[in-house]
Amino acid sequence: MLDVVETIVEEKSYVDNKDARDKKLENPAGDNLADNRYKGRGLFLDPPSVFISHSVWKLYLPEKMRFGNQKLEDTPFSLRDELFSEIRDGSTLAAIYSSYISQEILLHSGSEKSTRIGALIIEPVIQAAGGMQMVDPLFQRILVRECRSRKIPVIFDEVFTGFWRLGAESAAELLCCQPDISCFAKLMTGGIIPLAATLATDAVFDAFVGDSKLKALLHGHSYSAHAMGCAAASKSIQWFKDPQTNQNLDSERMLLREVGLYFFSV
Ligand SMILES: Cc1ncc(COP(=O)(O)O)c(C=O)c1O
Repeated sequence: MLDVVETIVEEKSYVDNKDARDKKLENPAGDNLADNRYKGRGLFLDPPSVFISHSVWKLYLPEKMRFGNQKLEDTPFSLRDELFSEIRDGSTLAAIYSSYISQEILLHSGSEKSTRIGALIIEPVIQAAGGMQMVDPLFQRILVRECRSRKIPVIFDEVFTGFWRLGAESAAELLCCQPDISCFAKLMTGGIIPLAATLATDAVFDAFVGDSKLKALLHGHSYSAHAMGCAAASKSIQWFKDPQTNQNLDSERMLLREVGLYFFSV
């Protein structure tokens, strides 16, 4: 039996690439790369997004999460902390998210019987490449929880969000949940020099360690542990965390102070 391992991905960001590839498939003329290998595979979810209107944070729910006259998305949040608060985990909206996710997973496994989901991959908090769209943190927390309960490994792509871009060292801290694997780059070196890192839990790491070639991950990158990249990263990580060199740091909360509001009030 063909056993295809797929991923759950949140729509928009990754879907941009998927759409581009699908369009090439529809119109392969002149595009000799058109090939089934480029067809996006996986379960693509449509996440609820967050936007600011008249200084309050609001939610925008996709069609599938709206029921009857319920206007849950109209609930405003005056502070960013309210939006991230774990108190929301017990709300009606959390139950709606949970049922949407369960239903999508069920439908997906029902339609493709030989397919099982191999991992969840998301950009935590902000989908960068898909148009700087902020996803409701509650949705991502529930998504992670639903995947964990099905033993689906969770991968966070923190290439954009990692290393203080959103005011905390990682977006995982803002979400209050930890992934099994996370990818970092960009600000790790302060953007000065290219370097990327993939972090994994011991359980994931150990799964790729072994004497047998069948078990061990037999791959080394050309620039692994590049000396200049590592030196820049080491200084950048240190300076970001030090209130002497990063005067915007609130060292008690380990968060950057917000300066954005000054822009609007000038
Ligand atoms: C969220 C995200 N993931 C992955 C990448 C790709 O990173 P790289 O260019 O290091 O391959 C980018 C690049 O902008 C990104 O924003």
